[in-house]
Amino acid sequence: MVTAVAQRLASQRKEIDDTLATFALSPTQLQEVKAKMRVELERGLKKDTHPTASVKMLPTYVYRTPDGTERGKYLALDLGGTNFRVLVVKIRTGMRNSVRMYNKIYAIPLEIMQGTGEELFDHIVQCISDFLDYMGMKNTRLPLGFTFSFPCNQTGIDKGDLVSWTKGFKATDCEGYDVVDMLREAIKRRNEFDLDIVAIVNDTVGTMMTCAYEDPKCQIGLIAGTGSNVCYMEEMKNIELVEGDEGQMCVNTEWGGFGENDNIEDIRTRYDREVDGGSLNPGKQRFEKMTSGMYLGEIVRQILIDLTKRGLLFRGRITERLKTKGIFETNDRLALLQVRSILQSLGLDSTCDDSIIVKEVCGAVSRRAAQLCGAGMAAVVDKIRENRGLDHLEITVGIDKYLYAMRFSDETLRDIMARFRREMENGLGGDTNPTATVKMLPTFVRSIPDGSEKGDFIALDLGGSNFRILRVKVSHEKKQTVQMESQIYETPEDIIHGSGSRLFDHVAECLGDFMEKQKIKDKKLPVGFTFSFPCAHSKLDEAVLLTWTKRFKASGVEGMDVVKLLNKAIKKRGVNIMAVVNDTVGTMMTCGFDDQRCEVGIIIGTGTNACYMEELRHIDMVEGDEGRMCINTEWGAFGDDGTLEDIRTEFDREIDRGSLNPGKQLFEKMVSGMYMGELVRLILVKMAKEGLLFEGRITPELLTKGKFETKHVSAIEKSKEGLTKAKEILTRLGVEPSEDDCIAVQHVCAIVSFRSANLIAATLGAILTRLKDNKNSPRLRTTVGIDGSLYKMHPQYSRRLHKTVRRLVPESDVRFLLSESGSGKGAAMVTAWASRLTQYRHMTLFCFPDGDLGVKSFNMQLS
Ligand code: BG6
Ligand code: GLC
Ligand code: GLC
Repeated sequence: MVTAVAQRLASQRKEIDDTLATFALSPTQLQEVKAKMRVELERGLKKDTHPTASVKMLPTYVYRTPDGTERGKYLALDLGGTNFRVLVVKIRTGMRNSVRMYNKIYAIPLEIMQGTGEELFDHIVQCISDFLDYMGMKNTRLPLGFTFSFPCNQTGIDKGDLVSWTKGFKATDCEGYDVVDMLREAIKRRNEFDLDIVAIVNDTVGTMMTCAYEDPKCQIGLIAGTGSNVCYMEEMKNIELVEGDEGQMCVNTEWGGFGENDNIEDIRTRYDREVDGGSLNPGKQRFEKMTSGMYLGEIVRQILIDLTKRGLLFRGRITERLKTKGIFETNDRLALLQVRSILQSLGLDSTCDDSIIVKEVCGAVSRRAAQLCGAGMAAVVDKIRENRGLDHLEITVGIDKYLYAMRFSDETLRDIMARFRREMENGLGGDTNPTATVKMLPTFVRSIPDGSEKGDFIALDLGGSNFRILRVKVSHEKKQTVQMESQIYETPEDIIHGSGSRLFDHVAECLGDFMEKQKIKDKKLPVGFTFSFPCAHSKLDEAVLLTWTKRFKASGVEGMDVVKLLNKAIKKRGVNIMAVVNDTVGTMMTCGFDDQRCEVGIIIGTGTNACYMEELRHIDMVEGDEGRMCINTEWGAFGDDGTLEDIRTEFDREIDRGSLNPGKQLFEKMVSGMYMGELVRLILVKMAKEGLLFEGRITPELLTKGKFETKHVSAIEKSKEGLTKAKEILTRLGVEPSEDDCIAVQHVCAIVSFRSANLIAATLGAILTRLKDNKNSPRLRTTVGIDGSLYKMHPQYSRRLHKTVRRLVPESDVRFLLSESGSGKGAAMVTAWASRLTQYRHMTLFCFPDGDLGVKSFNMQLS
């Protein structure tokens, strides 16, 4: 008995396995797909084979990818994907390009998708009309770009005859006609507004252009959505359908049609044929029907029906729902439990075994889809590589492999975000703080400026790439205004590495010089001190240096109160240090002056760090539960206990070994400006040693620490002159770089700087989610004050950072506000409070237990 059951189960299992095996493609089969795709790409490009080619290789009249000089305001339509969208896109140029978008999604009812062409275009124009009303833009004649995700025979950038509908569309009287004309006529029919239709592009082209805006090296656009398609930059001389041999043009491959000439019948299954037969365009788009979202669910459904009929599933019962087209959407990452509940919601009474089988079916179908896309992609990449006649691609792909460990998926970044959140909690907790690596130092700053600060102050700013002394005058006539003058002073290496007393004497001397120049020698101005190192505060004007970081290493200062040390040195100048703030705090305060919402300050410069406003009740190290206090996280030390070992590379270890503080500030050493150039240099040395660069040439300059600087990374990553810069910089290192070398070095720089932006996005993401949780609100709206040379000078850094943060913390609206004037203004604000408090103290002889304050508590005391 038992064996009979077991035998039946085994044979059922075998039947299921055999069915799914037809979806498993061997490496040889995939190679064949790639080779066949490659042949079709060629046939589509050639005049005589084009008419019979299954991959149409349509010219797009897009000659180049964006170069960052684009600007203006455009209307855009996006038709053919899952949604129909109308958008306004504003591209501005300022210090960095900025793109703003507003969009609205509209439904296209099935009867319109499959009605008449006139109805379809009237509907589109009606949606545009609604959108223009909504945006209040009916009377501006905007240029319009039309993303139309169907194959079009284009004869110009604004002319495109629809070849044939694909996916879910089938409106009559459109195939063979110019889509732009049809749209124009519909606008005329409505006679309500006017638009200049300037371009029609396929969605793949739109995607490539969007990404090229981020990364100029992007030359391929892939859509794997409702449909499946690819475009790429082809050499004009290979596009026989278009006159001219110079330069490049983007080609819309329409690879979805691959297989229409029966050349992949060997890998199509009976389920593929069933799906095809039941579609709007039988026999067409065969590759698309094996790879894209619109069809994968259908394939799954066909397999399930078959397995059920054969008694292998759902106890052999086929429900009406299962017979309904389109009930499945494919998602192979669903957990078993989810599969079960989906099946239940579809009225399919499933056992646990059933869920397992369904999950396997989904996996097999989507795995094959991914593999087929991969094979197709490999054909396109091969084609591009051959065109260039160079190994560029090989190089970038090669480097990617080499530096694989520096590229993180969002999943990894989310994991790092979670780790940092735990570190923050450890730092805040009373029991865990003593051993925490991320110190979460209380700053005794309890709010951002409220607009009432005034006075005349001196600010010292020590610890970043410059030592600066500033005079900050805050006046109050009607409006609060700030006047600043500043001077930069040298801090020679022998001074920052000498004795502490010499360092502070030097600061005092510079201060004397500054006061003389400002003619304020006799004024006893309050001084605020931005000191960009980790300090333990017990009040605003007491700051014990925990440890030096970055370039500093003066003896006899660690463990001491820097206020005392500095006051001693400047005593004879008659001024007094009122407050010490970290640069992150100064930055947050500077930005908070302009934007009341600012509650985070970050520095991405020589070093890196962040501060933010934390609820006092969560800060075990400080008494009191009411209100908030700014916490200096000192996130540079993240990883010092080994938490980041899995993502540190051999290069990171080498940087650390050669630093002033081995074993410390491990996160900072992976991301900040002081180390980035060095990281790139070490990678280049290793690659040269392995013969991957400079024909193996290694020069003494290349081997010299500090010869490759972070500002070089920034220069090399500029989109326009980057390669020329690379050549200049590498030539100075004596390595005689080839063009390929320059491209490779640019790529290395991008990987290293990208990693930095990604890691910072993760730690910042952790702070943002914490803020959100503290506020107990579903969405966080906040401003991050930000400063630092790397962030300011690197051409792509800020954009990458912002983008990743938005991806990692989608439930937030974050404004990044650059502190144009450094941290001095913010330090002056804190000093203003501190000196008011002192005056108050003198007046009343009232003794505060701690010298800290925030605007709120302070105003209360005064009134
Ligand atoms: C400056 C701030 O703008 O940026 C300093 O005034 C801060 O306080 C510095 O330390 C950080 O950037 P970098 O690149 O100079 O270390
Ligand atoms: C279909 C269309 C193609 C489009 C793709 C992705 O394959 O024919 O033009 O790019 O879907 O949306
Ligand atoms: C270092 C310091 C930190 C500072 C940061 C940015 O990480 O330890 O205090 O904020 O550099 O300058």
